[in-house]
Amino acid sequence: MPGLITADSDLEGKELTEKSSNVVWHHATVTRERRERQNGHRSVILWFTGLSGAGKSTLAHATEERLHQMGCRTFVFDGDNVRHGLCSDLTFSARDREENIRRIGEMAKLFTEAGVMALTAFISPFRKDRERVRSLVPHGDFLEIYCKCGLEVCEQRDVKGLYKRARAGEIKDFTGISSPYEEPDDPELVVETGTESLDASVDKVIALLRERGIVDQAAAE
Ligand code: ADX
Repeated sequence: MPGLITADSDLEGKELTEKSSNVVWHHATVTRERRERQNGHRSVILWFTGLSGAGKSTLAHATEERLHQMGCRTFVFDGDNVRHGLCSDLTFSARDREENIRRIGEMAKLFTEAGVMALTAFISPFRKDRERVRSLVPHGDFLEIYCKCGLEVCEQRDVKGLYKRARAGEIKDFTGISSPYEEPDDPELVVETGTESLDASVDKVIALLRERGIVDQAAAE
């Protein structure tokens, strides 16, 4: 039966992805489609990725501001904030980053089901972790936005003083210094956050949403 997860003797001894058994999925009568119709826009995950200091959070919040003014329902998930709560048990090891992105992916998916546009601002340095989130949702619901900004610029900005500390060896596994960042292969959008203005980047994101029919033409103008 679709969506029904049961304890199954065939599965005994095998590692289950889902550790809960006897869990039955309840289908809502207020569907995503009904919520989207009521909202007047589609829901989507806008996945901002890039180095620390590349401007992901700034761009996500500025985009949210624009969308809010257009009457859209939105929510921003921010790396630093989420790591104070939902993911406060996680480090910056590759394994914990994977878990961080898995949780945020699941959370963002729930938001799309609630009819909300989820804007996420996480370094999300590993391609496979981002692709896993992409595969969680229907085709077209995950828009990867690469905030492209060179390490030199991020390091020069060093808004939080973390690069300096990472260079001094005080912070381990720091992205760009002692831990890798894997650029997206084929993102839906690249924004040059090291050189272009914030307004220009927001314009590009809104244009993408218009192009994809997430917001209608009139609303975006
Ligand atoms: S992610 O790699 O798991 O996606 P996330 O976006 O949640 O990272 O958190 C990144 C933020 O945590 C950075 O902007 C920075 O402020 C802070 N931070 C603290 N330690 C590290 C580290 N070792 N590597 C990268 N960012 C770190």
